[in-house]
Amino acid sequence: MGSDASISATLPHGSAQPFAAAEAIKVEALHKSFGQHEVLKGVSISAREGDVVTLIGGSGSGKSTLLRCVNFLETPSSGRILIGGEEVRCRADGTPADRRQIERLRRSLGMVFQQFNLWTHKTVLENLIEVPVHVLGTAKEQAIDRARKLLDRVGLAAKEDAYPAFLSGGQQQRVAIARALCLEPRAMLFDEPTSALDPELVGEVLAVIRSLADEGRTMLLVTHEMKFAREVSDHVVYLYNGLIEEEGPPEQLFGDPKSARLKQFLKSVS
Ligand SMILES: Nc1ncnc2c1ncn2[C@@H]1O[C@H](COP(=O)(O)OP(=O)(O)OP(=O)(O)O)[C@@H](O)[C@H]1O
Ligand SMILES: [Mg+2]
Repeated sequence: MGSDASISATLPHGSAQPFAAAEAIKVEALHKSFGQHEVLKGVSISAREGDVVTLIGGSGSGKSTLLRCVNFLETPSSGRILIGGEEVRCRADGTPADRRQIERLRRSLGMVFQQFNLWTHKTVLENLIEVPVHVLGTAKEQAIDRARKLLDRVGLAAKEDAYPAFLSGGQQQRVAIARALCLEPRAMLFDEPTSALDPELVGEVLAVIRSLADEGRTMLLVTHEMKFAREVSDHVVYLYNGLIEEEGPPEQLFGDPKSARLKQFLKSVS
């Protein structure tokens, strides 16, 4: 989805260029244990520039853990992670060797969680400019200008002075997406962005995510919205018990699943 030309032409602000490497995100033979519990047992995935790669699977299959490892919120037990072709440097025990590399790479990945994680004591606009101004040193006027464009983009221009508690869940999640976009990430990571929402609010958030896919954003997406996954994904990965049970293009995975477990899973969520 999305040629290089369309990506650079349509990303906001014109400053986020496509990765030089063809693979925006690459995970190789990832293992992750919590104590004795091996949650990821050797998972490899890759997303090329502009790809939407969707992870599906039952509760506890390791989807969030995988996403959190990609964003370095969890330290893999073993395996390799490359962002834009750059490998995360690790010590022998698997912990990151270079905190500054991690900070830099993490900023290139916009993470959106199930719970919106907005700062409740800050207005919408303050939520968007906090990191650009106070961490990255962006000039305040520039950060505000960018934040307003992104709020407009997610349909919330009128809400910049509101506090999160006065917004619906769908609006809060759209603010969280705009906040992630403020950092001009190279790729977005979504972990069940609509599962905390009332059903009538799901559509407005999916519409924003779809628009990001349409403009050629690279995305790793965990969702239980199977119809949406089928429509928006370039590649779908079904995780079962910490391993990839089946993967492929959405028409194949949803239309002609091979694995009995995947067939069962799809029945259970339809
Ligand atoms: N910090 C942690 N410490 C210990 N165990 C953990 C931790 N994080 C996750 N786990 C365990 O790892 C397994 C996979 O969890 P994970 O959250 O990745 O699953 P998931 O596929 O995202 O599930 P869900 O669909 O319910 O969100 C679960 O058994 C969970 O209890
Ligand atoms: Mg999860």
